[in-house]
Amino acid sequence: MTRKSELDELGPWSEIKLEIIREYAQAYSKILSAQTAPDLVHIYIDAFAGAGVHVSRTTGRFVRGSPLNALLIGPPFREYHLIDLKREKVASLRKITSDRQDVKLYEGDCNTILLNHVFPKVKYEDYRRGLCLLDPYGLQLNWGVIETAGRMRSLEIFLNFPIADINRNALLRDPDAAKDEHVKRMNGYWGDEFLERRRLFEEATSVR
Ligand SMILES: C[S@@+](CC[C@H](N)C(=O)[O-])C[C@H]1O[C@@H](n2cnc3c(N)ncnc32)[C@H](O)[C@@H]1O
Repeated sequence: MTRKSELDELGPWSEIKLEIIREYAQAYSKILSAQTAPDLVHIYIDAFAGAGVHVSRTTGRFVRGSPLNALLIGPPFREYHLIDLKREKVASLRKITSDRQDVKLYEGDCNTILLNHVFPKVKYEDYRRGLCLLDPYGLQLNWGVIETAGRMRSLEIFLNFPIADINRNALLRDPDAAKDEHVKRMNGYWGDEFLERRRLFEEATSVR
């Protein structure tokens, strides 16, 4: 087990988030399991999976992370695809899931892993469906992932919108004050030059 001091500390809002995701995944799995199509398979994808366990800031106790919650859901998903960028987080997931044949772990950037390795396993025409949790800390997700998921018709995404990162770093009162790196991240997330459009809009409306 990863040492407590190395785990993410969760504020109360994150514990509420985990409960909402758990209930949603539970309902999704129940509904998909009740479908009459005999070949229909549903899978769970956690693209920013974390270590699988966290520590509550309120109680100091261990708290199950989103992948562990999903693994305990019944009726179960057929497969679980868990991705994290950090080696130590994937190592923790490996320990926690060592007895599960239905879990596949990936270490690396989910933006490429989803498109190249995971989404191809959830094709509509193969009678496969998936719930994909996108729970980044901030603007680490690329628009291409959301766009592709939307086109596939087989995937439902659950996106934790990174409003704090956007407000703090990109959506500043003075749009020209945003640093290039943050403008780049915002554009990658949003899929177009959102901040440039906002600047032009504000220029146009202030002329009147
Ligand atoms: C908010 S935490 C996820 C918590 C997890 N969903 C839960 O509720 O238990 C975000 C995780 O995303 C990982 N991460 C950051 N950038 C990533 C990327 N590009 N691809 C995959 N994982 C990434 C971080 O290492 C971190 O573990």
